[in-house]
Amino acid sequence: MDAITLLKDDHKTVEKLFKQFEKLGHDGDPAKKRELVDSMIHELAVHAHIEEQLFYPAVRAEVPAEEDMVLEGLEEHHIVKWTLSELDGLSPTAERFDAKVTVLMESVRHHVEEEEDEMFPGVRKAMGRKKLQELGEKLQAAKVSAPTKPRPQAPDTPTRKPARGRAKASAKASAK
Ligand SMILES: [Fe+2]
Ligand SMILES: [Fe+2]
Repeated sequence: MDAITLLKDDHKTVEKLFKQFEKLGHDGDPAKKRELVDSMIHELAVHAHIEEQLFYPAVRAEVPAEEDMVLEGLEEHHIVKWTLSELDGLSPTAERFDAKVTVLMESVRHHVEEEEDEMFPGVRKAMGRKKLQELGEKLQAAKVSAPTKPRPQAPDTPTRKPARGRAKASAKASAK
């Protein structure tokens, strides 16, 4: 599956959870609310991780015109992850629980709209089918080991050194 199709499928999964939460309403069963929000936390933590570690870096490298969209995206992720981490520890019967979920849904919907309407079309055009297919496979594989809880304070860009730096470092080491 190509990278953009995979990410859009994730967006659809999350939107379904949002709709179910809205359907429950304010007086809905707290256990059901908890279950839905736990699923949101899981889905969004994994999704944010694969975008931050693989998709966004590929976009920055291959489609410089989308650089500003990526930087804005990272900031939006940051806010979403804080909200998710607060929801993780908040009782579904707390006075602010529904309000926090509402703000989460607003932030995510806004972010998804920007990705799907503004970033993805440019990326699809610039990267082409083959690269998007390869990237999609990497995203799929990365899901397996992605964190399932939000980590708003963890680095949101890849921390690995670029391949060239590593090659240099190992050349130095072997010259010793
Ligand atoms: Fe995103
Ligand atoms: Fe996304």
